[in-house]
Amino acid sequence: MKHKILVLHGPNLNLLGKREPEIYGRDTLENINKSLLEVASKSNIVLEYYQSNSESDLITKTQSCFENNYDFLIINPAAFTHTSIALRDAVLAINKPFIEVHLSNIFTREQFRHKSYFSDIAIGVISGLGVKGYHMALTYAIDYLSGKE
Ligand code: DQA
Repeated sequence: MKHKILVLHGPNLNLLGKREPEIYGRDTLENINKSLLEVASKSNIVLEYYQSNSESDLITKTQSCFENNYDFLIINPAAFTHTSIALRDAVLAINKPFIEVHLSNIFTREQFRHKSYFSDIAIGVISGLGVKGYHMALTYAIDYLSGKE
């Protein structure tokens, strides 16, 4: 059976490319997802991605880990990072290893971005490395699932 990784993108990340490009870069979400898919398929891993602006939909997708048997999550909860106990609880409920990714360095930005409801339950956090952060998280996840980490 192939391992399955779910990449979750939170609110406003559908606007990547045109949203504050000096902070979030010029890559579109579509391009990011495509490049992650390519890497995963070379490693014989099934990768699924999902973006929503709705907290409820992100929670439902997270809960779908029970039926879909994802083995690992890469999540950029975007603004819900700083607000959503409900999404944190969903991530705790599924009890799967995950990495929290942020394109920007949340610690060099406004004070309200310094608090994350996910960091203390994540395997690790990557913040400020742009799109490379997703790729580093994916490389780690692939190694983790093949027992190299
Ligand atoms: C973000 C950082 C969050 O503070 C912000 O609300 C986002 C994106 C990032 O990827 O840098 O929407 O998660």
